[in-house]
Amino acid sequence: MTHTTYRTNAPEETQAIAAELAQHLVGGEFIALIGDLGAGKTTFTQGLVAAIGSTARVKSPTFTVMNEYAVSSHPTIRRVVHCDFYRFTKAEELGALELDEYRRLDTVIVAEWPDALPMVAWEPTYTVTISHKDEHSRTITIEEGV
Ligand SMILES: Nc1ncnc2c1ncn2[C@@H]1O[C@H](COP(=O)(O)OP(=O)(O)OP(=O)(O)O)[C@@H](O)[C@H]1O
Ligand SMILES: [Mg+2]
Repeated sequence: MTHTTYRTNAPEETQAIAAELAQHLVGGEFIALIGDLGAGKTTFTQGLVAAIGSTARVKSPTFTVMNEYAVSSHPTIRRVVHCDFYRFTKAEELGALELDEYRRLDTVIVAEWPDALPMVAWEPTYTVTISHKDEHSRTITIEEGV
């Protein structure tokens, strides 16, 4: 899987695509989520977190910047960290987040608006790009790296 494009017509279908990506994860990955407001980045993350094995309700971290979900049922992944850097602009605040502490082999990191953080030098393992077609239809492209 290097570059795959899907079309979905409901949030549950987008979550199912995320669950498919989750099958490829072992921990240590960084997933960049690209797409406009309301494209479905948080919806995608809900599917990903559920498929990895957390029953927690995934909420948008727009104001909290980062939410952590513990996982106990996966063979190698113990934690999913969901970040949203949309409102995050200050480099000095970034230091306070201690992001590098989260880059561990038992952790999957998913970030909305990662381009708001040019100072984070992480290479994405996967880049997921979601674009709006109409109210319910989305095109989702999953690429390795980028
Ligand atoms: N096919 C679809 N896939 C994903 N979401 C869909 C789809 N059809 C409708 N939706 C709706 O679109 C909205 C997507 O919102 P979501 O919070 O996931 O977007 P987001 O990309 O995280 O936005 P933001 O940048 O504001 O955080 C939800 O209300 C969801 O129910
Ligand atoms: Mg979101």
